[in-house]
Amino acid sequence: MLFATVASLLLAGTTLAQTPPGFVPAVEKTLDVYYGTTYISPGLMVKKSSVQKIPVVGVTNATLTGKYLLAMIDIDLQTSGSAKRGTVLHALLTDWTPSGATQNGSSLITTKATGPSSYFGPAPPAETPKHPHNYIFLLHEQPANFAVPASQKSVVQSRMNIDWVKFIADAGLSAPLYATYLQVQSGDNTKRFEFEA
Ligand SMILES: *[C@@H]1O[C@H](CO)[C@@H](O)[C@H](O)[C@H]1NC(C)=O
Ligand SMILES: *[C@@H]1O[C@H](CO)[C@@H](O)[C@H](O)[C@H]1NC(C)=O
Repeated sequence: MLFATVASLLLAGTTLAQTPPGFVPAVEKTLDVYYGTTYISPGLMVKKSSVQKIPVVGVTNATLTGKYLLAMIDIDLQTSGSAKRGTVLHALLTDWTPSGATQNGSSLITTKATGPSSYFGPAPPAETPKHPHNYIFLLHEQPANFAVPASQKSVVQSRMNIDWVKFIADAGLSAPLYATYLQVQSGDNTKRFEFEA
């Protein structure tokens, strides 16, 4: 019985998570991300060419107030000589606030900020065998007077191997409120402006 209970909890956790299996922190509520008219259902595989511009972001069934911080992290960086994959920070953008607009029932949020790390579109290098990269979006409440902590400055600047659990602790953030993720196939060489049939 105990086993059944634990198993069902694990299963429930897997079903609810809007982050890839094994990723910490797991998040239950879905962040709505749109690239143009394409809704990113959690885990959707998309073409590299379709995700080179910063997406539209929002939430469903909630009214956000205040300011939010958005991170986008690739967790599949291939590191030579290591079976363990590293991370790449693809965006860290502050000052998201409700825009008042909606798309497909999502209440949108927007920012004029371009940092601390500007949006950098996915471009996973070719690998044999192919290995899709997972890009995770995490939305946090932004603390008053938020600044990148000194301990995280070089990681944020280089974008390499950010440890989000450590960032949360060092920056004094609370747990992420919303998340989602997309996938891009390694070696996807689609061009941004090519005709997509
Ligand atoms: C609208 O949002 C739902 C999820 O809330 C999603 O399943 C659907 O694909 C979205 N449709 C469009 C056209 O964005
Ligand atoms: C939003 O609320 C409606 C009505 O309660 C529900 O049917 C729908 O599944 C909810 N959508 C999400 C994304 O939580």
